Amino acid sequence: MSKLKDWVIPALIDLLKPKGIYQKVSEYVASVEGIEEKEGIIYGEVPEEVILWEHDLKFIVNIPEGQKTGFFLDQRKARKIIRNFVKQGAEGLDLFCHTGNFALNMIKAGASKVLAVDISSKAIELGKKNAELNQISGIEWLEANVFDILKKLISEGRSFDIVVIDPPSFAKNRAAIPNALRGYKELILRGIQLTKPGGYLAVYSCSFHITREHLLEVLISAARDARRQLRVVAESFQDLDHPWILQIPNTLYLKGIYVEVL
Ligand SMILES: C[S@@+](CC[C@H](N)C(=O)[O-])C[C@H]1O[C@@H](n2cnc3c(N)ncnc32)[C@H](O)[C@@H]1O
Repeated sequence: MSKLKDWVIPALIDLLKPKGIYQKVSEYVASVEGIEEKEGIIYGEVPEEVILWEHDLKFIVNIPEGQKTGFFLDQRKARKIIRNFVKQGAEGLDLFCHTGNFALNMIKAGASKVLAVDISSKAIELGKKNAELNQISGIEWLEANVFDILKKLISEGRSFDIVVIDPPSFAKNRAAIPNALRGYKELILRGIQLTKPGGYLAVYSCSFHITREHLLEVLISAARDARRQLRVVAESFQDLDHPWILQIPNTLYLKGIYVEVL
């Protein structure tokens, strides 16, 4: 994208007539790719915060301070799919909730309560504002490390009708795969244990290196340990703003699998 910038920016201006364009540069990517791009406004004016609509919900997005673009647009389709598995009055668990995007969708679809967990205080703060903006109640916000909170929830005998696990990328390269799979095993095993019989679990990998097949293997192994059977009810991949180009395998980076936990 850095190389194509002189072509992409005029095209964006021409097609979308934006008020402004903000360039985000991750330090990690800049160092790995050897690029010297700077972060900041590269066209027009960009306010710190904008409000966007996704489906029938409004979200506040902090562009300079938020993670990535400030909003995980690639999960738009997944957040719609999740509504199909929310029963009236259901209790939900949104792990790695960021600004509460799955949690808000669960409540909209009829959940009565959702526990939303994220390690980032800024994300939780914005999540609370998003709930207020949409006049949504019933979300309990918890600023915590998901890995610490899972065992605690199990020891307290908690269980949920729907559990969403949407972690950050645990494997930025091939060497990180074994560790990432151990992380997934822990998350999925605990997630299954926390799902009521007949409830639903959705798990995502946003790393190209952790494939759909890896997720399926971990689901099978965790189900065996938990002595539960899993029925696959849906699958998803990233939404259209991150196109999946068949000839470029690493463009399919976000995978989601939805199971009924029997
Ligand atoms: C891929 S994003 C989640 C996106 C979100 N589900 C959505 O739909 O917008 C991953 C999130 O995990 C959070 N996070 C990273 N490590 C964590 C940890 N160990 N415990 C809790 N949250 C964590 C980040 O702050 C980030 O908000």
